Amino acid sequence: MVDKLNLARTPTPIERLPKLSALASKFAEVEIAVKRDDLTHVIATGNKIRKLELHFAAAKKRGARVVFTCGATQSNHARATAVLSRQLGLECVLFLRDEGTSRQLTGNLLLDALFGADIRFITPEQFERIDIVFAEAAEVFKKRDGISPFFIAEGGSDDIGGMGYALAYEEIAGQVPYPFDSIVVANGSGGTQAGLILGKTVFEHENTKIVGFNVCKTAPEMAAKTKKVALSTIQRHRLPISFMPADIHIIDGYVTPGYAKASPQLYNFIVQACRADGILLDPVYTGKALYGLIQELTASRQRAEYFGKKILFVHTGGFPSIFAHENEIEKALHG
Ligand SMILES: Cc1ncc(COP(=O)(O)O)c(C=O)c1O
Repeated sequence: MVDKLNLARTPTPIERLPKLSALASKFAEVEIAVKRDDLTHVIATGNKIRKLELHFAAAKKRGARVVFTCGATQSNHARATAVLSRQLGLECVLFLRDEGTSRQLTGNLLLDALFGADIRFITPEQFERIDIVFAEAAEVFKKRDGISPFFIAEGGSDDIGGMGYALAYEEIAGQVPYPFDSIVVANGSGGTQAGLILGKTVFEHENTKIVGFNVCKTAPEMAAKTKKVALSTIQRHRLPISFMPADIHIIDGYVTPGYAKASPQLYNFIVQACRADGILLDPVYTGKALYGLIQELTASRQRAEYFGKKILFVHTGGFPSIFAHENEIEKALHG
């Protein structure tokens, strides 16, 4: 039994993407379906809530009154943590990495402020030593409450959150009578992909590939992070499976021009996806992953065959960040 609160609206539907599937069927016919995890919650939308259901259960069990987490200025994970903290009557402190990006209250940052998170900007150097930052800041709350704040790792990707998408895999397996040939997801901190790999291993779906598109760093770096989350989750929850590092498939090449930045082609694709199949993607995660998938499927027969015919794209949410990219999206609309 896993300790978990029920905060997400699940099961989320699995729907077809007929027009984007037709677009992607250049060399081989493919059927792309979408797992609508953008429908898990109106404001705490996306993939993070599935991990946070486990973190908040652990925080409550420990009697914590405050949660700490960290992320980029427009972090979806930080926003979901801020919203759910309020829903559960907890205080939330966000340590956001200041890389000189705008601090304008828009997108996720506006929601963080609206839900009363204690927002603290830290330098990239401090972010590298987040454990120390957490520990120092925790002292004040420990003195006040007699109990330490509960720390949630960046992106919720740790041995607790890793179970979120293992359980989501069970949900998917209960919705569709056949295993998918591949399940595609954006990889930002590894937890979603790690969980899906654990899920498919439990279900012995050895022919299902879980394919991540990294949205930051490099594929080897994200593979290492994904492996770490998978192994620590197996250990914590004593899962009776052995994890195969070869099950980690990550496709690099779609991060350009950098984390949280997008190319004009990507903004155009976001507009195209809205109009083709009525699906809203974000420029940081889901846009890059679905754009990457369609580029791969139409690049060559060999690359298309890698994914098989039945493909599930996990829509991991993230829509608030489009408001932090509104000028670029407006350009794409007029282009
Ligand atoms: C909208 C969205 N999709 C995908 C991801 C990637 O998930 P993970 O961090 O579990 O790799 C994130 C966060 O990093 C996200 O906010």
